[in-house]
Amino acid sequence: MRPKDFISISDFDRDFLDDLITTAAKYKSGKFDNKPLKNKDIALLFFNPSLRTRISFELAIKQLGGSPSTIGVGGQTWNLEWRSGIPMDSDRAEHVIDAVRVLERYYQALCIRAFPELQDIKVDASEPILSAFAKHSKNPIINMESCISHPCQALADIMTVREVAGKTNKVKVALFWTYHPRRLPLAVTLSFLSAAVKFGCDLTVCAPEEYFIPSEICSETKKVKFVSNPSDLDKDTQIIYAKSWSSPKLYSQADQDLSGRQRYKDRIVNSNLLKIAQQAKIMHCMPFRRNVEITDEVADSDSNLMYQQAENRLYVQKAVLNKFVS
Ligand code: CP
Repeated sequence: MRPKDFISISDFDRDFLDDLITTAAKYKSGKFDNKPLKNKDIALLFFNPSLRTRISFELAIKQLGGSPSTIGVGGQTWNLEWRSGIPMDSDRAEHVIDAVRVLERYYQALCIRAFPELQDIKVDASEPILSAFAKHSKNPIINMESCISHPCQALADIMTVREVAGKTNKVKVALFWTYHPRRLPLAVTLSFLSAAVKFGCDLTVCAPEEYFIPSEICSETKKVKFVSNPSDLDKDTQIIYAKSWSSPKLYSQADQDLSGRQRYKDRIVNSNLLKIAQQAKIMHCMPFRRNVEITDEVADSDSNLMYQQAENRLYVQKAVLNKFVS
């Protein structure tokens, strides 16, 4: 029996995830055109901004015959409190418990985006907001990116790897930390890492040492090679997945992370990097900063797989909704 919720790649085995990607590919090819969400209403609750996730979920729900409601939490609704048993004397006017009890009378599923506070890695790893929704909702909860998990992105990424390489086993992928002026969540990094290992990719993480991912927050790192210098990337790397993330080592020391990373402004995907891995295609979950994370030259070249990844989000989410909500 499948779990009620779709929250993390690590909750599922390879066969289950493989089945979702196979269904996504059928939606993409037009071989599958069912309407499992007919007469169903689904809420998309955003605690944080989005372009791809918001639009692709809305389209996926409509194309499956359902009706989406997109809700900006705090802007268009009351701010929501998720901590249990506390006096609610902050600016959060309504508790998740009560919001869920109301929303489940209107909707057949809730999709949630809720980013981390990036202050305490143990708190963020406990997924406080997603867990509160999952605990109190009788209906499915679908993760649209949480503190440490972005499972729909990871499935779209693996689908893209499979389309490009024809397989996932032993495909040589480098997860490449790029400089970014802001501290970004670990969600995409950890979900891709977990999925890539499950699907048998030959994965290398290339990052300054303080950005290495410890096994305490992602056990799959035991199956991953870490290198700190871009020149140590394998020449036959097939895919470079560009991504910035916060330093796990300096997670509670934001100022040190931000000041320390200034010396890594050369960690950008540019033509010099592609001289090391000459055949590599470039992935990124988007949004990305041009000429900070990836140069215009590379982004506008045939190496760019990012738009294909973004397109695949639509099909993957149709597969997830078909499985968890219908
Ligand atoms: N990759 C991704 O989730 O994009 P958005 O933040 O725009 O939704």
